[in-house]
Amino acid sequence: MMRVAILISGGGSNMVALARSMTGDHPGRAVLVLSNTDDAGGLARAEDMGIETAVVDHRPYKGDRAAFEDALHDRIVASAPDLICLAGFMRVLTEGFVSRWQGRMLNIHPSLLPKYRGLHTHARAIEAGESEHGCTVHEVTPALDDGPILGQARVPVLPGDTPGTLAARVLEQEHRLYPAVLRRVASGDKTRIDL
Ligand code: GRF
Repeated sequence: MMRVAILISGGGSNMVALARSMTGDHPGRAVLVLSNTDDAGGLARAEDMGIETAVVDHRPYKGDRAAFEDALHDRIVASAPDLICLAGFMRVLTEGFVSRWQGRMLNIHPSLLPKYRGLHTHARAIEAGESEHGCTVHEVTPALDDGPILGQARVPVLPGDTPGTLAARVLEQEHRLYPAVLRRVASGDKTRIDL
């Protein structure tokens, strides 16, 4: 059974989709939900599902990223996961941390990478006049939003779309794509999925 830690910073809807998918004959189980802020709505949702939770707050480290990441690493290791899923985790991780989990850490990003790395992806796609947009699950490497792609899901950009309406359409696909990729990766298969 593959042990999975899920890192969040906010509401945790992707975390819920992942955790709910890991039942029955699924080769993985959620063993930890960790947030870098104690007010993340996803913590209570994880507790309601009976998953152990933890908070490693980045703020007391006052920008000392190495010290924050050491504390983060130590808390994750205490739950002995085989795989980390970043699900709306909003801290950019340094090469020092990523290299310790290389090949064992996934992320979901709300764009069709390599387009629109970084923030505000929906507004940027609308501004650019894109007819198509979507989300990507990739392996995490030291370069931001750049690792090998494991899956993508596409949605149309509709006339009159706002960043909010487009984000909602993409999020629906995120909740399908991330569990599908995780099931494959947890069974040892990194073949790409396109929804
Ligand atoms: C998602 O859109 C994800 O792609 C992005 O942050 C958002 C997190 O949403 N990185 P949630 O906390 O999983 O609901």
